[in-house]
Amino acid sequence: MSHPNHTTHENDGEPDVGRVRIFDTTLRDGEQAPGFSMDRRAKMRMAHALEELGVDVMEAGFPAASPDDFAAVAEVAKAMKAPTVCALARCQPGDIDAAGKALAQARRSRIHVFLSTSPLHREHKLGKTKAEVVDIAIAAIKRAKDQCHEVEFSAEDALRTEHDYLVEVFNAAADAGAIVLNAPDTVGYTTPAEMAELFTYLQANVRRPKGVIFSAHCHDDLGLAVANSMAAISAGARQVECTINGIGERAGNAAMEEIVMALRTRAPYFKVDTGIVSERLYPTSRLLANLTQQPVPRNKAIVGDNAFAHESGIHQHGMLKHRGTYEIMRPEDVGASTSLVLGKHSGRHALRQRLAALGFELDEAAMDDVFANFKKLADRKREVVDADLVALAGGADPETQGPWRIQNMHASSHVGGSASVTVQLRHDDGREASEAAIGDGPVDAMLRAVQRATGQPLELVDFQVRAISQGGDAQGHASLSATHLGHEYRGNGVSTDIVEATAHAVLAIVNRIERQAPQTAAVAAQR
Ligand code: KIV
Ligand code: ZN
Repeated sequence: MSHPNHTTHENDGEPDVGRVRIFDTTLRDGEQAPGFSMDRRAKMRMAHALEELGVDVMEAGFPAASPDDFAAVAEVAKAMKAPTVCALARCQPGDIDAAGKALAQARRSRIHVFLSTSPLHREHKLGKTKAEVVDIAIAAIKRAKDQCHEVEFSAEDALRTEHDYLVEVFNAAADAGAIVLNAPDTVGYTTPAEMAELFTYLQANVRRPKGVIFSAHCHDDLGLAVANSMAAISAGARQVECTINGIGERAGNAAMEEIVMALRTRAPYFKVDTGIVSERLYPTSRLLANLTQQPVPRNKAIVGDNAFAHESGIHQHGMLKHRGTYEIMRPEDVGASTSLVLGKHSGRHALRQRLAALGFELDEAAMDDVFANFKKLADRKREVVDADLVALAGGADPETQGPWRIQNMHASSHVGGSASVTVQLRHDDGREASEAAIGDGPVDAMLRAVQRATGQPLELVDFQVRAISQGGDAQGHASLSATHLGHEYRGNGVSTDIVEATAHAVLAIVNRIERQAPQTAAVAAQR
């Protein structure tokens, strides 16, 4: 049976040689990396941001991995209007059928099947011969083709696969109906020269039916993922797989913002472009950082805080005479304009405009909240910068959703001594609880006081504080993880006062626990 909407889409005829397709895998390869997991709500927000950014293909997850992954892919598939939605599957019937079902409502769907081809993987991981690997790939592609609009085939560990065997595998994959032939550098081992050599060889030797394209998927173990992707593009790849901020397995994947801006800034050299709206790069990067609570390194190319900061006097002098002396891209080209700084006199309209530029479209009720919090913050802080706004609008999950809210708190600590904390909390059901505790420092004391007040046992696993902008009045971001009855929870809080930020983070955890198990919590509170 053929998929009801089976057409060859944009791949009808020769692919546009001047255009590289951006295959985003932030929600799959990126999300599977430790520290970057996202819940369904976060994935949906990211998916909408990626759609606005203009990605061609969005890999939304690996449906066979878990019921949650399946549901997230299905939700993304249903919601996306423009991009092709892709789901990953091993070359196994169960995986392929799960991917097909999860993508059933997509306007444009792609199943991405992958199978190891390198000698090391064939022998030690699969225990299969070359011929068996080819047969498994063909059967998988044929099965996938019946359940979606288009199929991509990845030869896992392609960069350590014999070149002539890779040609054999790709010929078979294309004959079976795959329209994208992806050569991943799965372990981040290759170099730009080797990458160019492989893609040149593939171009010359693979029998490609009309419309079939090559793709590169590079990992950053040696810090070469972007350089290797650029080399593949120069040698004919017309799809690159990448992630926002370069997140991904181990050292990460190739960073989309770097590939896109390299192609654009060096357009006469590369002579190909993408469909990415570059002004959305910075907001999308910040949104991801906020959703995963993983900060973007200051010196990160394109989207880091220092990417457009000129500190040296000689550079500043040159810049004043001509921007081009030391600037190869303008911050506004990637949506990182810092010209608009908000403060206590800024109005709702200016705030809404800046939030929209940062990717936040808020309804009136949410805008009321954010505006009220913005005014409070602007009273405490001279300038409210983008990072503050992202924290406000992203609701760095303070305890705003309740049921517990902070009424009052007081903390004191002494050099060489213990710290004490008093908290006064109110529950949405009307209960009030005040507790004091002494601990080894204010965080420990805060944790004890909140535990006593709410009746929730918590064990601290990890605690980090960082400034989310510059200057003495910068807001502090507290990130805390704790276990409760064997489950780990993470909470975040933001405030100009780091003890208060910590209190928000603790309460965010307690509230999450209560929202998940209201009855258990009520019993605990009566004890
Ligand atoms: O790195 C890799 O090989 C992958 C494949 C699933 C494409 O992520
Ligand atoms: Zn990968």
